[in-house]
Amino acid sequence: MALRKLAVLAMGALMTMAVASVHAEDGDEDNVASKVPAQAQICAGCHGPDGNSLVPMFPKIAGQHPEYLEKQLKNIKSNVRLSPVMMAIVAPLSDEDMALLGTYFSQQPAKPGTPGTSGPGSVGEKIYHGGIPGAGVPACASCHGAQGAGIAPGFPRLAGQHANYTSTQVKAFRDGQRKNDAAKMMRMVSAKMTDEDIAAVADYIQGLK
Ligand code: HEC
Ligand code: HEC
Repeated sequence: MALRKLAVLAMGALMTMAVASVHAEDGDEDNVASKVPAQAQICAGCHGPDGNSLVPMFPKIAGQHPEYLEKQLKNIKSNVRLSPVMMAIVAPLSDEDMALLGTYFSQQPAKPGTPGTSGPGSVGEKIYHGGIPGAGVPACASCHGAQGAGIAPGFPRLAGQHANYTSTQVKAFRDGQRKNDAAKMMRMVSAKMTDEDIAAVADYIQGLK
């Protein structure tokens, strides 16, 4: 009797495990993050395996909105955003590949950046939260969020991004080299910013979490 009860219990436990593992497999199929797209290995060399690039000139793409990532890949492929480095890489990608890669990297947790010297009370903080009223520069926070998390789908996350990359992009908008911003939003924001303003706010952004 005792043995039989044990056997029943063991069967029950086994069945529970079997059901649990079937569920886990189901979950895996639905969850794109658990399937690394084959092309993501190419990206890892510059953006890091999980999109948290360690190199200041290569942007972090982990935790970015999927739609924004997909848009950039498409813009680069169609030469709307010029990137000599990325151009050859996106050339063979299909629309489906780009959507999949966008989803994959958006689902990787973003690791915080190393805070620069622009803490509370700094010029960078003032520009980020209050803009430069005299020069008609609006607050970055109004479109990119108080903590730099962005507003999906169109306003990208900035928090923790390498200051070097952020500066390069804001200058590219200001100098008319990057023109893929809807309604010229970033070109207008950056038009009156000096190199010093840009460096200060980029330094502050790197420390945002
Ligand atoms: C050889 C280095 C290199 C490789 C490999 C690479 N990238 Fe990039 N990527 C860059 C650089 C550099 C930029 C910044 C744009 C520029 O300055 O040309 C960039 C920009 C991007 C951006 C725009 C990010 C933003 O915040 O606007 C996305 C998205 C992106 N890469 C995705 C990918 C994906 C997906 C792959 C793999 C299929 C990949 N990259 C492979 C170097 C690379
Ligand atoms: C009116 C809204 C608006 C304001 C204000 C604004 N931005 Fe943006 N920003 C955008 C949009 C929209 C994009 C996405 C452009 C695209 O689709 O490629 C963007 C993109 C960017 C990018 C490129 C991100 C990347 O990963 O390549 C940087 C950097 C940036 N903004 C910095 C700033 C800074 C710094 C400020 C404050 C001085 C600021 N923005 C204020 C709307 C805004």
